[in-house]
Amino acid sequence: MTARRPLVAGNWKMNGLRGSVAEVEALASALQQRPAPACDVMIAPPFTLIAQFAHTTANTGISIAGQDCSALAPGAHTGDVAATMLADAGATAVIVGHSERRQDHFETDETVNAKAHAVHAAGLVAIICVGETEPERDRGETLDVVKGQLSGSVPDNADAVNTVIAYEPVWAIGTGRTPTTDDVETVHATIRECLVTRFGAEKGNAMRVLYGGSVKAANASELMAVANVDGALVGGASLRAADFDGIIDAYR
Ligand code: 13P
Repeated sequence: MTARRPLVAGNWKMNGLRGSVAEVEALASALQQRPAPACDVMIAPPFTLIAQFAHTTANTGISIAGQDCSALAPGAHTGDVAATMLADAGATAVIVGHSERRQDHFETDETVNAKAHAVHAAGLVAIICVGETEPERDRGETLDVVKGQLSGSVPDNADAVNTVIAYEPVWAIGTGRTPTTDDVETVHATIRECLVTRFGAEKGNAMRVLYGGSVKAANASELMAVANVDGALVGGASLRAADFDGIIDAYR
């Protein structure tokens, strides 16, 4: 069994102004003053705050990620942001294929795969999201949907250094609802199996698989204790340092 260092990542989505750096400072100070967690800690702010947050978190152990990027190289693409630009601003990772991107911007597995390629080419870590919608779950299609998204969205060059998978059931995002720990265990075991089958035991067992969807301080320990759950991708509860630190407590 390969030891995987867990990752707790906060996805700020379309939230945060320059003054929100106070929360990042509060988190950095909590990390310094409290027992060091046995996990990596990351924040994915909106594009506008990446450079500022990267500056503030230098030498704090908190890393910074983008929430999306273009699959294209820099050029005439109004409104888009290249992975190389995120790297230049201080990001070390980029979330790709979040369900809000898949739904609101009609991103397909093919698009997500191309974006992950761009992330890798920029020397960054791709956090690739997968997860079923509620109707898919009700039809009993969860495992098939997740397998299909994995095979389409994860590029062939993925390994444990350049890629993290995040399982986020769409119906659990921002709803306060979470799957049972048995359901999380089943999906994560399936994801692990897919990764091992495709990339071999060494790489497949070393890749981190995060759970996301209504993770809070109150349920983090239970969810993080599930087999093959290697950390969390947190939305709402990552915006305030005290809440996010309460989730990181699962690894103290
Ligand atoms: P919530 O934690 O707000 O449910 O959001 C999860 C998510 O989408 C993280 O990417």
